[in-house]
Amino acid sequence: MTNPFDYALDFTGKHVVVIGGSSGIGNGIAQGFRARGADVTVTGTRPDEGDYLEAEDSNLTGLAYRQLNVADRDAVGALAPTLAAADVLVLSQGTVRYKREEFEREGWDAVMDVNINSVMDCARAFHTGLAEKGGSLIIVSSVAAFKSALGTPAYAASKAGAASLTKTLGEAWARDGIRVNGIAPGLVPTKLTSVTTDHPDRLEATLRAIPVRRVGTPEDMAGAALFLASPLASYVVGQTLVVDGGLTLS
Ligand SMILES: NC(=O)c1ccc[n+]([C@@H]2O[C@H](COP(=O)([O-])OP(=O)(O)OC[C@H]3O[C@@H](n4cnc5c(N)ncnc54)[C@H](OP(=O)(O)O)[C@@H]3O)[C@@H](O)[C@H]2O)c1
Repeated sequence: MTNPFDYALDFTGKHVVVIGGSSGIGNGIAQGFRARGADVTVTGTRPDEGDYLEAEDSNLTGLAYRQLNVADRDAVGALAPTLAAADVLVLSQGTVRYKREEFEREGWDAVMDVNINSVMDCARAFHTGLAEKGGSLIIVSSVAAFKSALGTPAYAASKAGAASLTKTLGEAWARDGIRVNGIAPGLVPTKLTSVTTDHPDRLEATLRAIPVRRVGTPEDMAGAALFLASPLASYVVGQTLVVDGGLTLS
């Protein structure tokens, strides 16, 4: 008899779409699914995949690329029908504005559009295909969802919203055969966090607060995403898995 644990992490024949998969965490998740046999489509903001050749935290090898700017609220609704239905949809798009810009209306709105409004836009746009496939939706929020983020109020509020949406869609869409879960990363060096990780003193201070004494990697996040999308997590619904090396334990 076949043991389900032997093939649970085999995504051969599955189509995985990673919104915000052009770089950083989303790119690591995309490559994780590719390594486990999936056909993976990623999106990024630049016109062409060649525009990422020089980018440090981007590897588009073996991935199909499509341009998508989710700040255009209609764009994902136009994109989704042009793709094969997704077995797994990962929403890893995200942005932040520093220098107190998020206290102003323009900065607040810009971050809210990308970090929370677009999450629902994407979920809605792919819902029919995910339901057809009995698929899985994974929403990337942040540990900032669960605490204050001095200086970036829209980022924290949008991530709290994403974690909340994960619960509600988890309940609402279970009846459609879609499992919705989330990941809350701690600190992973990417272009979003270079303001911390490129400064040795700031990085050192953060490392002191991480029990495992290292920053996270996109591969750490890919491990969580593979688990959540797999049959190993078939009874896990509406949960946001904190993947932070223990950062938020105290
Ligand atoms: N890094 C961390 O420590 C950390 C911690 C907690 C949560 N997160 C979350 O993890 C997710 C990935 O972030 P990251 O750290 O990997 O940063 P990243 O490397 O900057 O990746 C962000 C992704 O979102 C895309 N994106 C940005 N603005 C967009 C827009 N208007 N329309 C469509 N796509 C857009 C980016 O496209 P381009 O490549 O074209 O810019 C990129 O693919 C985000 O949701 C972030 O909030 C990160």
